[in-house]
Amino acid sequence: MAISFSDPEKLKEIFDGENREEWQKTSYIIQNLQLKADMVIADVGAGTGYFSNIFSQTLANGKVYSIDCEPNMVIYLKNRFSHDSFNNVGIVQSVMDDPCIPPDVDMVFVANTYRFINDRCAFLRNLFQQVKRHTRLVFVDFKGSHARVSPDMAINEVQQSGFKVINFDITGCPDHYILMFQKKD
Ligand SMILES: C[S@@+](CC[C@H](N)C(=O)[O-])C[C@H]1O[C@@H](n2cnc3c(N)ncnc32)[C@H](O)[C@@H]1O
Repeated sequence: MAISFSDPEKLKEIFDGENREEWQKTSYIIQNLQLKADMVIADVGAGTGYFSNIFSQTLANGKVYSIDCEPNMVIYLKNRFSHDSFNNVGIVQSVMDDPCIPPDVDMVFVANTYRFINDRCAFLRNLFQQVKRHTRLVFVDFKGSHARVSPDMAINEVQQSGFKVINFDITGCPDHYILMFQKKD
């Protein structure tokens, strides 16, 4: 069954809730990304911008593309990041099968989103064409009984799409795995 993400005002209570660190262990995820101040990150399935906000504040000389396929989320993101203090955030409206990654991206970050993509094969095919060899790709998603797409399925799908796994962390977060991959050599 398709889940609607068309009500950001309601969803922000969950996505930006005070207990996010507790259930997501965000600080651990961010630490694992080994961010550099001048990086360019595409936050795909950005939702209400929880991670984009962190990236914006961390990347002093870099840039964040906050990307989502849900038009209401895109409107919400444009409002949230309209202040001058977020002038390193660009908002992109994507489509379901195409993440629409801009050309200059060092890292593609996809949190709590991969399992909602209907045609993951088409999504990965487009993603492959839009990233460079050095681009790091990161999926953070549910493991265990919450997993609509199991970690093994995600690994298999990215490998079938021409990527190689560079790190897979299934123990660091309470309910999520962190899968890092890159284009094959
Ligand atoms: C559960 S939310 C996660 C939001 C955010 N990443 C976070 O962790 O707080 C999933 C988001 O992914 C978006 N989404 C779902 N499928 C997508 C796709 N194929 N391409 C881009 N965004 C997608 C939804 O509109 C929604 O905003």
